[in-house]
Amino acid sequence: MPQLTIMPSGKTVDIAEGMSLLAAITAADETIKCEGNAKCGICHVFVHEGRKGISKIQREENERLDTIVGVGSKSRLACQVQILGTEDIKVELLGFGSGL
Ligand code: FES
Repeated sequence: MPQLTIMPSGKTVDIAEGMSLLAAITAADETIKCEGNAKCGICHVFVHEGRKGISKIQREENERLDTIVGVGSKSRLACQVQILGTEDIKVELLGFGSGL
């Protein structure tokens, strides 16, 4: 079963097709204060490995990312990402817990 590694804590959690990336991150006991509506940006992550193992970015997510400081080519909103379950993924938490 593929695994998600969450940086900087280094926690890992098993992942499966159909899970949201946000659900997988919170399953690893990382906290987040958002309803997952692609409006707050708190779930901003960099996807360092396994980008082929997640869903492609959609317009709403892309538009929200455009409003966030520090966005890069690896940026995604975890609440909008579906896990495909095909490979291991490594993400770095950025906005989590920042109270944005
Ligand atoms: S959880 Fe708020 S934008 Fe993803």
